[in-house]
Amino acid sequence: MSDIIQFIISESNSESIEDIKSILSKNIDIKILDAFYKTYFNKNKIISIFSPKGGVGKSMLAANLAIAIKKITKEKVALLDLDMQFGDISLFMNSYSERTLHDLIYNIDYVDSQQLEEYLTEHESGVKMLAAPHEYQYEKKVTKDIIEKVLCLFESYNFVLIDTSSVLNEMNLSVLENSNHILLITTLELTSIKNTMTMLNIMNKNDFLKNKIDFILNRYEKSSGITIDDLKNIIGDRKLHIIPEDKNCVIHSINSGKPITMDIKKADIYKSIMKIGESIVKSDIRGILERWKEFDERDKKAAMF
Ligand SMILES: Nc1ncnc2c1ncn2[C@@H]1O[C@H](COP(=O)(O)OP(=O)(O)O)[C@@H](O)[C@H]1O
Ligand SMILES: [Mg+2]
Repeated sequence: MSDIIQFIISESNSESIEDIKSILSKNIDIKILDAFYKTYFNKNKIISIFSPKGGVGKSMLAANLAIAIKKITKEKVALLDLDMQFGDISLFMNSYSERTLHDLIYNIDYVDSQQLEEYLTEHESGVKMLAAPHEYQYEKKVTKDIIEKVLCLFESYNFVLIDTSSVLNEMNLSVLENSNHILLITTLELTSIKNTMTMLNIMNKNDFLKNKIDFILNRYEKSSGITIDDLKNIIGDRKLHIIPEDKNCVIHSINSGKPITMDIKKADIYKSIMKIGESIVKSDIRGILERWKEFDERDKKAAMF
């Protein structure tokens, strides 16, 4: 049985998991379901972390969420730093790599998915990382075509997490369009909220984007003047995850080179990031189970005739 299915079955305390369990309990042969999952749906999920404002915690979340998803699923997880100018995922992960996105793009027409491994660094968590360029090296803009080629190379990875810069250029737009989930980060600061509203308007007009956004409220603390309800009024009924402010934990994790989701289990910030990971994995599984149900019902109908 795959670790994901095992994870779903062993979960018991979350409301949302109940639908999944009820589907599972309807005489489904877990072995068949597992095989079904592996055969049909074990393809990669691209999760991008974006914000129209810098400094809100994109890189902090991307690094820690990649480790969280790796811990939950034990599947192949990649973390791509696509912040061409100020990429700092390597610092969050405390790892250095000679080769970067710059080299990969330079050779993009000659690299296959096996050679891709030479451009990645393995973190002790098992997450494979593609580092951002060491310095700004781009005169040439990174087009949609290049981004799609890069993402294609990661096809064998089950989860691909992408840290972005805060610019809405061709590169980031194609990253977002090619993502299965977009995590849009904001804080309860007025400038961040204003940019989030602008971004939401843009996304709502784009069919490739509007149905896959979840919101992340980062650095939450009660005393900010703007409330969670204020934010909910703006984002409507879209999913909202909350990560608390925890300067000590975040600064300690960066300076000591140990990402939060590696070991700071008691902290609320650890729990909140693990919960986001679980929610992504569950929504993925839910989609798969819904499809399974359709297949199963179609099979039963076919057997009647
Ligand atoms: N939940 C949090 N609590 C406290 N500090 C945080 C939190 N999230 C991020 N930070 C701090 O905010 C700064 C910006 O985070 P970063 O992830 O680099 O933002 P971005 O990638 O969006 O520019 C970092 O120095 C980090 O220490
Ligand atoms: Mg960043």
